[in-house]
Amino acid sequence: YSEVSRVRNLDTVILGEHIIEPWYFSPYPIELTEEDTIYICDFTLSYFGSRKQFERHRAKCLMKHPPGNEIYRDDVVSFWEIDGRRQRTWCRNLCLLSKLFLDHKTLYYDVDPFLFYVMTKRLAQGHHVVGYFSKEKESADGYNVACILTLPCYQKKGYGKMLIQFLYMLSKVENKNGLPEKPLSDLGLLSYRAYWTDVLVKLLVEAANPHLWKQNNPAASDPSSDLPPPKAGLLEMTIEDIANTLNMTTTDVLHTLSTLQITKYYRGLHVVVITDHIMALYEKLIKKIKDKKKHELDPEKLQWTPPS
Ligand code: COA
Ligand code: NA
Repeated sequence: YSEVSRVRNLDTVILGEHIIEPWYFSPYPIELTEEDTIYICDFTLSYFGSRKQFERHRAKCLMKHPPGNEIYRDDVVSFWEIDGRRQRTWCRNLCLLSKLFLDHKTLYYDVDPFLFYVMTKRLAQGHHVVGYFSKEKESADGYNVACILTLPCYQKKGYGKMLIQFLYMLSKVENKNGLPEKPLSDLGLLSYRAYWTDVLVKLLVEAANPHLWKQNNPAASDPSSDLPPPKAGLLEMTIEDIANTLNMTTTDVLHTLSTLQITKYYRGLHVVVITDHIMALYEKLIKKIKDKKKHELDPEKLQWTPPS
């Protein structure tokens, strides 16, 4: 018996102002899934079988943001840390909603062992959920992420990469090298690889060209910042150095380097060669950031200590 084999049981989900078509089965109560459409409040994530019930709820709903602590805020997004045990109903509702877009996760009821990091976007009515990832509070095998999701109405706009950047920001504070849970979905893998490519290209090009680092990192010209300049001289950087700087695993670093085809075997050593292709990727990335087509989170805005 497996949930995965169950067929999609809803045609349409109205989430706040968005109309979404579910991808997979999710175990919403049977009375609701007999309807074609369900309505979900995008603050409480509670669900209703009719527009009337939904509107009655909205008229008295006072929630303006997810429960838990706001641990990051910038001009574009906020992040909230939510303990599954303390906010059981909200987190179960989040899992039910996200199951509509995940085919292999079966976590819905036992949310207690997880922390949820929820990203929101501020609009007139409040902070709306855009996506999240969950982490096991105690993860024996070192996996730090159980699940990552951008709600379909917000997908392919860069939010997935922001979620990934944020989980690596947390790994940095924890002094751990981040490891996504396996197996990753195709979309998950694409997104992690895109993130790894961005950060590796940036690190390597700027390590080889400190003037580019000075030019393209606001912290470099801020005298109050204690951000160290990159180590110049790529030959001095080992794979471990790179992995530790980016809080990636060495496997993920090596894999990304080989995809980028920038390692060469030279005098008995593997060295990184900054090719024209890599420079082009770098320039494209910097242009996207400058044109505000890509939003970079600011690690200085994180207010968080790892839960003990
Ligand atoms: N087709 C092709 N490429 C895609 C893609 C798609 N449908 N969706 C994302 N990508 C690529 C983008 O090109 C982007 O790379 P780029 O910036 O270098 O172009 C990268 O992946 C990240 O895209 P982004 O917009 O930041 O991601 P997203 O907000 O769409 O979220 C997921 C990505 C994986 C979180 C989202 O697809 C999702 O929630 N999927 C369902 C749940 C899931 O599978 N989760 C992971 C497994 S647990
Ligand atoms: Na149905």
